[in-house]
Amino acid sequence: MRVLMVAPPGAGKGTQGALIAAHFDIPHIATGDLLRDHVDRNTPLGQAVKGHLDRGELVPDDVVLGMVREAFVEAKAAGAGYLLDGIPRNMAQARQTYLIARELDMTADVALHLQADDEELVHRLLARAASQGRSDDAEEVIRRRLAVYREVTHPIVSWYAERGILVSVDATRPKEEVGREILTALEVLRSFVNVPEAARRPIDLTSLGVAFGEPPAA
Ligand code: AP5
Repeated sequence: MRVLMVAPPGAGKGTQGALIAAHFDIPHIATGDLLRDHVDRNTPLGQAVKGHLDRGELVPDDVVLGMVREAFVEAKAAGAGYLLDGIPRNMAQARQTYLIARELDMTADVALHLQADDEELVHRLLARAASQGRSDDAEEVIRRRLAVYREVTHPIVSWYAERGILVSVDATRPKEEVGREILTALEVLRSFVNVPEAARRPIDLTSLGVAFGEPPAA
């Protein structure tokens, strides 16, 4: 199973991502966790991106795309499944992630969209700030992260809808209910997606004009 998530901060990418990864026994690739690990270890990359994280801004695309390529190569060796959490975050990342995955014969089967309104998300992240103290969980930075999501990340949802792989879930309900709905949906899809890449038939819509009410080609 190959799943990527598109969701605003606090919607539950980390929470539900861990559940999905454990259920399907696939690697959980979380760009935010990888970046925070660099910051904690004070690596040159960590020093370069710390300011972006603290301000709630996206780090440069090439930084996260390099991480994803490396993680995909490892995931391929481990069975070719994955759960992507935190990427893609803009249209350029969506296209590049797709191209990297296509090169490795491991494009996503499902794009999982977790939906929640901003007030619920602010409430959750402020509650987490009190217990965990993440550097970007101050209210002003939370609102900046949400604005970045609405502006550059959310528009990619329609791209996945057009590709026919979008699954949307109401993430405002309790974690267990959200998790149950996600796993049920993914289990239904599992039998459809466990098809070897070479056995998949490309869809050529040009031959289906009649189905769209167009006269047959002369
Ligand atoms: P990232 O680590 O991806 O953070 P985020 O998107 O801001 O999301 P969060 O981790 O805050 O929330 P989540 O959706 O994972 O929810 P969670 O399960 O934790 O990115 C951080 C930063 O890294 C970015 O701002 C950017 O700077 C950089 N970055 C990362 N990827 C990048 C990329 N591709 N390109 C450029 N920059 C990138 O839950 C949140 C809280 O809510 C928890 O306390 C949880 O217990 C609670 N909760 C979860 N579900 C529920 C529920 N159903 N009901 C009640 N509470 C719930």
